[in-house]
Parts: sequence; structure tokens; C-alpha cells
Amino acid sequence: MKINSICCIGAGYVGGPTMAVIAQKCPNIKVTVVDLNQERIDKWNDANTQNIPVYEPGLPEVVQEARGRNLFFSTEVDKAIEEAQLIFISVNTPTKTYGSGKGMAADLKYIELCARQIARVATTDKIVVEKSTLPVRTAEALKSILHNTGNGVQFQILSNPEFLAEGTAVQDLLNPDRVLIGGDTTPEGQKAIQSLVDIYAHWVSREKILTTNVWSSELSKLTANAFLAQRVSSINAISELCEKTGANVSEVAKAIGMDSRIGNKFLKASVGFGGSCFQKDILNLVYIAKSYGLHEVAEYWEQVIIMNDHQKRRFSKNIVSTLYNTVSGKKITFLGWAFKKDTNDTRESAAIYIADDLLNEQALISVYDPKVSSAQVQYDLNYLQTRSEQTNATLVQSHTNVYEACKDAHAIAVLTEWDEFKTYDWQKIYDTMLKPAFIFDGRNLLNSEMLEKIGFKYQSIGS
Ligand code: UDX
Ligand code: ADP
Repeated sequence: MKINSICCIGAGYVGGPTMAVIAQKCPNIKVTVVDLNQERIDKWNDANTQNIPVYEPGLPEVVQEARGRNLFFSTEVDKAIEEAQLIFISVNTPTKTYGSGKGMAADLKYIELCARQIARVATTDKIVVEKSTLPVRTAEALKSILHNTGNGVQFQILSNPEFLAEGTAVQDLLNPDRVLIGGDTTPEGQKAIQSLVDIYAHWVSREKILTTNVWSSELSKLTANAFLAQRVSSINAISELCEKTGANVSEVAKAIGMDSRIGNKFLKASVGFGGSCFQKDILNLVYIAKSYGLHEVAEYWEQVIIMNDHQKRRFSKNIVSTLYNTVSGKKITFLGWAFKKDTNDTRESAAIYIADDLLNEQALISVYDPKVSSAQVQYDLNYLQTRSEQTNATLVQSHTNVYEACKDAHAIAVLTEWDEFKTYDWQKIYDTMLKPAFIFDGRNLLNSEMLEKIGFKYQSIGS
């Protein structure tokens, strides 16, 4: 089928950037991104593309080029579904917070709602593409809903997992290491795969477009994220050993990373990985393994999460013990709240958990993040339901000026590796802090020599 109209359900961190790049590269295909959230759609339609709801370097320019030409953002979900020949499902799939599989399985209610909506609305044949990360065999559930509740039209289900990393989404989409498309082995399935291959082939070379069966595609996404997260937990495990033995984790990472079999990426010790994918995908993997009775497999992957939780906890414990075993009433400034640099996404950010630990110790927290709003910080803390909203609002203040944020603080914790943190006037910051002035660098970002010369007591991860 030659595709000239695409719809994407879900205008979030995945759907928005991915569709913007498809629209930019395929000017002859109409791409409509729909979402139930009117405020989000309004922001995507903001005349000033700097105000779009997802902060990604390079994205405003792509949206500027394609929006109004062949890229549209709308809340008219039914209309977009009906018009499109190919529908991407890119809605959120959070970890279940209730019932069976609580805390582990993905909550598929949003996906199911989409499937039912597509089935209800569609009057012509559609290719439905899973874009969100989903547990293996979701396609089967989608298929069942579409075929049993539809109007007799034909549906082909494809899995096309997204591998973009936030902060580098546009570059990752423009130059992907690979594009993965899973579909049925039937002639109709193969035709549907080909239609999607043809879209990516507008800018991705054919050798980089892999086609597989649906289950391999679904499982590859979970496995890729599990392997990446495992590398971070592995180096973080070594960071603790380094701190005890006098080795330096950056030196160890460099030494092992030069082994071409290991490679040098994803070996940066940190306060712990965050983001919407790693933990959720590993939990999915663990849940699937458990549900097949594969307990060793489940426990093996679960350890990656256990290590990550330990890394976060030990960071906050170290702050408390270094500050003479009490942070009660002490101001601690967080540099960074996002889960990594160059994004405004805070989902599962280590900062949230470090803050929660320190608040339990009655600390006062002051936050500076160049892209995260005060409202988001409060939302993230309230979501944990550890204490009242009122208490969070009293104990945690956000600032838009970093020097204000650091004034009278006992300590600074670096939680996101924003480049701008390296360029601050650190002498000026030191002068306004209480002494001794501590820095806990959870990203091994800052220049220790320079800071120690000024007078800071500086601690990094793994040395
Ligand atoms: C990840 C995958 O990389 C991407 O392919 C997938 O599509 C979605 O999940 P993302 O979560 O956006 O992407 O960011 P990523 O760059 O993978 O970082 C995840 C977390 O690991 C961040 O908190 C990051 O700071 C941390 N990290 C990463 C480290 O602590 N050390 C490293 O060496 C690398
Ligand atoms: P991701 O990182 O996977 O893109 P987000 O939470 O950023 O996740 O985006 C998912 C989007 O999907 C949200 O904006 C949400 O409003 C939207 N969404 C969820 N369910 C539906 C639905 N049934 N129809 C339309 N949009 C939906």
C-alpha cells in the first residue's frame, strides 16, 4: 500500500519528535499527531516553536519546517484515524500501580483504549504500528481487539520500536543505528512491513532497516534497554568498589572501554539511571520471565534495578553522613532535576528519589534546572505520596537563578549533567555558601581541582 496519510496517537516525547522527522523527510505524506490532552496540542501548535512541549535540541527547527505543510497537531482523534492508512500508537505505557503485576507489568489500558477507538472508527483497511515500548505479545492483544470489534475492515499490526534517546532525539531519528520493523510472516503482513520500510527509506539506507517477526521486534526493544541499563548498573557497582579501594571509576571505565569487545559507551558512573524506559522495560522483562516460570532469568535482570536503587540510596546516605549525620534544617541545592541533560523530562529522575530521602531527613531543598519548572518538581514529589503537598511546597523551592539557588546552602548536589553547570562562576557560588561548602557531584561533571582550590569539599562518584 502506498501511504500518503499517517496518524500518530500520542503527542509525547516519542510521538512528537518521531512524527516531526517523518514529516520533514516525507513532504508528500500528511502526518497528523493527535492527543487527548488539549494543552499539549496547543503547545505543539504554538506560533513560536521554542514553546513546543518537548525540549529537544534541533526539534523547533524541524517542526517549523514541516508544521502546516504536512505536519499537523490536533485533538480530533477520530478524524485523523479515519483519514490515515497507517496509524502509529505512541501513548504512554506506565508500570501498573494496581492489581496483578502491580509495580512490574505495563499498564496497557491506554493502548487498549486506542485499539478500541481505531476499531470503532475505521471504515478502510489500516496498518497499525506499535511505537510505544510494549511488553512482548501486546501485538496479539491489539490484533484480537481490532479483529473482534472492528467494522470488517482489515488490520495489519506492526511493531516498530523507537530507539531514540531523549536529548539527542532529532539526531537519533535522522541517523538511526537501525530501524526495526516486525510484522506477520503472511503475504499481507509482508506487504504492510514494506509500506513502512518505504517511509523510512526516504532517509535511512535499506541495510539499516531490519525486518523481523513481531515478537522478535517487541523483545529486541526491551532487550536493548535492559542491556544499556545493565551497563550503567555494572559500572555503578564498580564505582562503590572504587571508593573503598582507591581506584578511580573513570580510569577503570576508560581502560575497559578501549577493549573493542566492550566499547566505551554507557560506562559513565552516575547517581543512577532514570528516564521513562530503563526501569519500566526491565520490570516488563522480569514480569514476562516470571510469568513463564523463568525465575533465574527474572532475578538476573531484577538485579539491575536493585543496583540502581542502591546507587541512589547510597548517594543520599553519603550526603547525610558527610554533613555530620544530620541535614535537618540544612539547605541543600540540587543542580538539575531532569533525568539527563538536554531534556525537560523528569520521569524516574534520580533527583526525585534523592530529594525524597533528604526530605525524610528534614532537609530544605532548593532546585535549579534550566528546563524544568517548579510545578513539575512539586508534581514529581507529590506523586510519591510520601508527605503532604503542603509540606513539599514548604520544604522544596525552585529557582530560576543558580546563584540565588546556592545562596546560604550547606551543600550542592549535581544530579543532571547540564553543560552550563561547568561554566558557572564557582568562586561567586562559594562565597555565598555556608562553610564548609560541600559539592556532591552525582555526574562526575565538574572540575575537582578547580573547586578544591577555591575551598569546596568536593566528592564525586567512584573515586
Ligand atoms: C533510552 C535508550 O537509550 C533509548 O534507545 C530508548 O529508546 C529509550 O531509553 P533515554 O532513557 O532517553 O533512552 O536516555 P539514555 O541516554 O539511555 O539514558 C538513560 C539514563 O541512564 C539517564 O538517566 C542517563 O543519565 C543514565 N546514564 C546513561 C548513565 O548514568 N550513565 C551512562 O553511561 C549512560
Ligand atoms: P512517551 O514518552 O512514550 O512519548 P508521553 O507520556 O510523553 O510518553 O506521551 C504519551 C501521550 O499519549 C500523552 O500526551 C497522552 O496524553 C497521550 N495519550 C494517551 N492515551 C491516549 C489516547 N487514548 N488518545 C490520544 N492520546 C492519548
